[in-house]
Amino acid sequence: MILDKIIGFFSHDISIDLGTANTIVLAKGKGIVTNEPSVVAVQNDKFGKVRILAVGREAKEMVGKTPGNIKAVRPMKDGVIADFDMTEKMIRYFIEKAHQRKAFIRPRIIVCVPYGLTGVERKAVRESAMSAGAREVFLIEEPMAAAIGAGLPVREPKGSLVVDIGGGTTEIGVVSLGGLVISKSIRTAGDKLDIAVVDYVKKKYNLLIGERTGEEIKISIGSAIALDEPLTMMVKGRDQVSGLLNTIELSSEDVREAMKEPLKEMSDSLKDVLEQMPPDLAGDIVENGVILTGGGALIRGLDKYLGDIVKLPVYVAEEPLLAVAKGTGKALDEIDLLQQLTYE
Ligand SMILES: Nc1ncnc2c1ncn2[C@@H]1O[C@H](COP(=O)(O)OP(=O)(O)OP(=O)(O)O)[C@@H](O)[C@H]1O
Ligand SMILES: [Mg+2]
Repeated sequence: MILDKIIGFFSHDISIDLGTANTIVLAKGKGIVTNEPSVVAVQNDKFGKVRILAVGREAKEMVGKTPGNIKAVRPMKDGVIADFDMTEKMIRYFIEKAHQRKAFIRPRIIVCVPYGLTGVERKAVRESAMSAGAREVFLIEEPMAAAIGAGLPVREPKGSLVVDIGGGTTEIGVVSLGGLVISKSIRTAGDKLDIAVVDYVKKKYNLLIGERTGEEIKISIGSAIALDEPLTMMVKGRDQVSGLLNTIELSSEDVREAMKEPLKEMSDSLKDVLEQMPPDLAGDIVENGVILTGGGALIRGLDKYLGDIVKLPVYVAEEPLLAVAKGTGKALDEIDLLQQLTYE
């Protein structure tokens, strides 16, 4: 026990929830050390060499607002690495930040990945963490991390159902006895909701807005169900017809209409998983309900929306944006759990 504590104290091991929207890093014994958007801002210098200007929050501020030679890149798309080089640079930046820029430290790293990645996609994650300075890399699947982080009894012979709605993927998992019994991952999540809002505003109001504005609208007034008192928001953009800047008033009803299709894809997937549920675990789910994690869990009324469709109680986890990261952190703290739950 004491030896464990001493080793833990000197350990530089970290876990990374490498998300499409946000990357959260935990260090053993320290908890969350960074929590920032998964964005890298780069500039091409006059010799054509790529220079990193900013990573994380500062870089996200630049999305859609950059002059010609500066580019804000989101290296992860739909839950997987879209730009290997940028992902590696981003991981390196976060590792160094976690270790107060002591670049010589080579930690063991647990990285959380979506369920059902192909071998090639898993290899890409592993290699980018290795070339960013890891000594050894373990992968943990996102629904499992979400279930652990949400405090569900993952090691008991009891079914728990978690739905993690991130930026790139919605992951549904039934966990029992430390393993995923059923899992499903679809590439419809927060980002697709933002795009749906952008498309709707363009079609209905002829107004062009960017994805960042789409996200702001979704967060500020988006709702999965009709609200007793609809919310409204003034939205600025460019009129498609006149080409001039214009402002319109958008309501939560507009946003609900806009998000209808992607929300249905999420509820359809949940129904699919419930249809595959082994009867012995079904009773546990009826009793304990469905737990929502990830940033998408914060969509107004999503618990009620899904609950009405699947006729089960649906709850939002405490601090849903941190659930997966907390789960990877717990795996980091308990080496036996780590060996049981990670896979190559
Ligand atoms: N209050 C809110 N209401 C609705 N959506 C929100 C809210 N807060 C954050 N989000 C959305 O949650 C998403 C980010 O969630 P999260 O950090 O869990 O994703 P991620 O882990 O980076 O992505 P993934 O797991 O898919 O790779 C974004 O699409 C963001 O717009
Ligand atoms: Mg996530």
